[in-house]
Amino acid sequence: MPEPAPFNPITFMEARQSREVGKHVVYRESVDSTMDLARARANEGAPHGTLVLAEEQTAGRGRRGRSFYSPAMENLYFTLVLRCPMDVHRRLPVIVPLAVCEAIREFVPAAAVKWPNDIWVSERKACGMLIDAEISAGGAVAFPGIGINVNGDPTLQPELRDIATSLAREAGAPVSRERLLAGICNRLEALLEADEHEVALRYRELSCILGREVTVHPHAGEAFSGMATEIAETGDLAVLMADGRTEWVTAADVTLRPKSSA
Ligand code: BTN
Repeated sequence: MPEPAPFNPITFMEARQSREVGKHVVYRESVDSTMDLARARANEGAPHGTLVLAEEQTAGRGRRGRSFYSPAMENLYFTLVLRCPMDVHRRLPVIVPLAVCEAIREFVPAAAVKWPNDIWVSERKACGMLIDAEISAGGAVAFPGIGINVNGDPTLQPELRDIATSLAREAGAPVSRERLLAGICNRLEALLEADEHEVALRYRELSCILGREVTVHPHAGEAFSGMATEIAETGDLAVLMADGRTEWVTAADVTLRPKSSA
C-alpha cells in the first residue's frame, strides 16, 4: 500500500469542475465525525455543496448505530451539506450512491451499488454511506456522509478481513483521493440536475442486487427472503417472495445469497 500523504487541496481544486458542490471546503486533520461538524456548519448557514472533509475520524458513524473504521490519511471521510428542492431531496438515496459509484468506476470499473447505499467490489464493501436530513420551514437540508476505503487495507483488521476491501487493493495501484473526490463532486452536481428516470436507470444498471436472492432485515420487523426485482426513483426496493407477493422496503439492510459457482 502507498505511504499515506495529506490531502492536496490544489490537486482537488484543479480536478473539480462543479459550480457549487465542493466549492466551500471545511478540512480537519481529525474530528469525531464529519456528520456532527457538517450539521454544526449548516446551522451556521453553510451554503449548498459545502464539503466537510477529515483525514481521520475518532468516532466515525455507520448506519444503525454501527461504528465506521476511519484510520488517518489513507481514505476519504466526508459529509456534504445539500440544500435541494424537495423533489430532488427525496431522490438523494439514489442520486448520491450513483454519483459515488460512477466516480469510483473511473478507477475500479467493477464497482457496483449494493442497496441501499454501499459500494461493493468483488462482493466486498469498499464504501459506506448514510444520509441524515433536517426538514424545517426554511427547506430541507441533507447530510450525505461517505466513507471510502481508498488506499488503506481494511483486511488487516480481523473483523473486516473477509467483508471489506479498498480501491487500491482492487485496482492494484494507489488511487488519487483528490481526483476521486473531485469526480464525486462533479458527478453529484450533474445528477442533482438530471432527469429522474435517467438517474434511476443508471442506478439500476450499477446495482449488484437486482435479480439476486436476498434476505431483507427491516429496521422494524421480521427478516424475510426473496428476489430483488426493482428499485424505485426514491430508492425503495421491491422484493418478490416465494408466495408471489411483492414487498416494497424503504429502511432495511439486505444480505445476498452467495452466487452459485455452478
Ligand atoms: C455505513 O456503512 O454504515 C455507513 C458509513 C458512513 C461513514 C461515513 S465516513 C464520513 C461520515 N462521517 C461519519 O461518521 N460517517 C460517515
